[in-house]
Amino acid sequence: MHAVGIVAAAGSGLRLGADRPKALVPLAGRPLVAWAVDTLLGSGVAEVVVAVPADELAAFAAVLPPEARPVVGGATRTASVRAALAAVTDPARPAPDAVLVHDAARPLTPPEVVTRVLAALADGAPAVVPVLPVVDTTVRVDGDGVVTGALPREALRRVQTPQGFAGAVLVDAYDRLPDGVELTDDAAVVRAAGVPVATVAGDERAAKVTVPHDLALAELQVPR
Ligand code: CTP
Ligand code: MG
Repeated sequence: MHAVGIVAAAGSGLRLGADRPKALVPLAGRPLVAWAVDTLLGSGVAEVVVAVPADELAAFAAVLPPEARPVVGGATRTASVRAALAAVTDPARPAPDAVLVHDAARPLTPPEVVTRVLAALADGAPAVVPVLPVVDTTVRVDGDGVVTGALPREALRRVQTPQGFAGAVLVDAYDRLPDGVELTDDAAVVRAAGVPVATVAGDERAAKVTVPHDLALAELQVPR
């Protein structure tokens, strides 16, 4: 199976509040984006396209390995993945067998997660996401923050990346998604096109770096 990778790295990282785009912030001395790209390249993904902020192409090119190509992303994650998808696919040729879409902000994702996603695709799933159980009681609140009810935790999952797709399925789903519609992940894009999304086990180490505490935790977990 020929799998290509997309890494979404064009965000600014407002909640992390660093002095540079989040994907360029170092973890154990290497930018988050380099960790994320290596996870894919080390797990059977042949080439990777990285969506980066428009004014940072050179900075990203300087830290990416030769198998990874930076392209200009967009103002939202959906726009960034759309741009990267256009760069990995050629309308005149068949779509790649599989496309894996990963967040630069998940630097310590273990290779086993990628392997599980690729295996589900090889078994015929059109779309697959790594998930974890919800361990806290999870509630709904009203506009004043008053609890209005609890959600059935057993039926809830936290969704991670990389998310995997049959290439033609992802291309078709993005083609159908109107410009300007923003969804938080790619599974939501294919679901909007009516495609069922399977799940495999995620991993706590694939946690997303969002706020400074997450980066401090990741520093403690770097394999040495
Ligand atoms: N992303 C992207 N293009 C955007 C926005 C986000 O490629 N316009 C990417 C980010 O670089 C990140 C991933 O999507 O790897 C998940 O987004 P998030 O964690 O929200 O990162 P940021 O948007 O950069 O952070 P914040 O929301 O705190 O500004
Ligand atoms: Mg964001």
